[in-house]
Amino acid sequence: MTTGSFPATRFRRTKRTDALRRLVRETSLSVDDLIWPIFIREGEDDETPVPSMPGVSRLTPDRAVKAAEMAAGLGIPAICLFPYIDTALKTELCEEAWNPDNLSNRVTRAIKAAVPDIAIMTDVALDPYNINGHDGIVRDGVILNDESVAALVKMTLAQADAGADIIGPSDMMDGRINAMRQALENAGHKDVCILSYAAKYASAFYGPFRDAVGASGLLTGDKKTYQMDPGNTDEALRLVERDLREGADMVMVKPGMPYLDICRRVSDAFGAPVAAYQVSGEYAMIKAAAENGWLDGEMAMFESLLAFKRAGCDAILTYFAVDVARALL
Ligand code: PBG
Repeated sequence: MTTGSFPATRFRRTKRTDALRRLVRETSLSVDDLIWPIFIREGEDDETPVPSMPGVSRLTPDRAVKAAEMAAGLGIPAICLFPYIDTALKTELCEEAWNPDNLSNRVTRAIKAAVPDIAIMTDVALDPYNINGHDGIVRDGVILNDESVAALVKMTLAQADAGADIIGPSDMMDGRINAMRQALENAGHKDVCILSYAAKYASAFYGPFRDAVGASGLLTGDKKTYQMDPGNTDEALRLVERDLREGADMVMVKPGMPYLDICRRVSDAFGAPVAAYQVSGEYAMIKAAAENGWLDGEMAMFESLLAFKRAGCDAILTYFAVDVARALL
């Protein structure tokens, strides 16, 4: 890289007009980059706002189908489902997680039937179904790895049977990608993608999400024995490498904004598709500041999402997906 000296070089020349700025822009955000996470609940033609996530509601199945239709119409390539499960269905062993007719699987089928072109991503983790609020099975206060993986495999197969295009294991148990991939192959689901939450940190930024899925009040302790320590970066690369070897097609870094260095390192080190999750707390911060008039919400939204592209991400899970898609039209 060579840069001349003043006045041969004036950086302001290419900044003078919008046309010139567009011409020299290195990175841009497109609707093709977006995955829209939505929350679903039981019921009919209704929705419940999530107070800690302004603009986000839990949708009944019929409304989830309408939301998917709207997203597809806007050109959003993928939608991701997170169920709010009735407390009566939460157990120690989390059996509802692999019920073929559970809320998530019913909504997957309904969206597939109505909007076949949008890709459906489903979440593989036990927390919505767990009386303990953890992503794995808990015994005597310990989160059991191998028993949890067996449960996650059953959950994966039920989701693939329902028609999920992308399976999203967000649980952080060891060995789950290998077990899930083998089970999918054996069951004839050879083309189902796995987007592994490979570098998922134990983060305070998940707070509003746990409200949205109704896990906040139930969680005993924290998730530090399976989610990553925020002080680590090399471990993220090892996790990504392992998950790719075990059969993940895409990998994720989560949360997003506080971990852009990880996005960059992962995208530099592997040729694989990388996604970032701009999580609930990141969304809530921007929304809350905008609602207070402390910053311009739309500009902050675009700037925060462009950062992921600059850091090398191919896809972004964001609660702003619909707002962005509309603004890009
Ligand atoms: C749990 C899960 C979490 C999120 C997605 N899946 C929370 C957690 O790990 O406690 C967070 C997403 C968000 O905050 O938007 N399996």
